[in-house]
Amino acid sequence: MTPTVTVRREQAGDAAAIREVLVAAFPSDAEARLVELLRDNGRLVVSLVAVLGTAFVGHVAFSPVHVFGAPRATGLGLAPIAVLPEFQRGGIGARLMDAGLDECARVDAGFVVVLGEPSYYRRFGFERADRRGLGNEYGATDAFMVLELVPNSLAGMRGIVRYGDEFAAVAEN
Ligand SMILES: CC(C)(COP(=O)(O)OP(=O)(O)OC[C@H]1O[C@@H](n2cnc3c(N)ncnc32)[C@H](O)[C@@H]1OP(=O)(O)O)[C@@H](O)C(=O)NCCC(=O)NCCS
Repeated sequence: MTPTVTVRREQAGDAAAIREVLVAAFPSDAEARLVELLRDNGRLVVSLVAVLGTAFVGHVAFSPVHVFGAPRATGLGLAPIAVLPEFQRGGIGARLMDAGLDECARVDAGFVVVLGEPSYYRRFGFERADRRGLGNEYGATDAFMVLELVPNSLAGMRGIVRYGDEFAAVAEN
């Protein structure tokens, strides 16, 4: 029987296989190091893997963001998401997105932000974050997007979204 792709939470012992997926999907190991730092710091709030038989083919991570100017905001940042190149465009990314956003809702995240290709994330309901009062530290405009998970959690919010220190630490190395 042909194995089908399963999306499940990261388990103990998955770290090395996740690293392999990330290194294969991105030009450098920066995203792999980011996920490892977040895991070490206990900030990998949502981490899901896509598994085909015994092979790891995809991964998505979400970690807490802070909104400077809105200290009670409970948002998560989506980064990174990756599917092995030879398995891309088969819907695995969408499966990881859908399951990942469900998990974010389960852990009571009010909203999720992402810095990425608008045409990809729009299909999951993301919209320009600056239209909802949220700026970013990277000078991004349409590429910085937000999805409200808890209705009205963004109502009246104004502030600059800060990702965890792990992001800057990886960017500097
Ligand atoms: C982004 C990624 C996870 C999508 O995974 P996937 O399994 O290919 O996604 P799906 O099969 O669900 O969706 C594929 C669709 O997304 C589009 N797509 C994929 N990556 C895209 C990107 N960077 N920009 C715009 N569209 C993209 C494809 O064109 C395709 O569109 P179609 O359905 O109209 O043909 C995968 O392409 C990947 O790992 N890329 C390298 C790592 C990366 O850049 N991650 C995002 C930044 S963290």
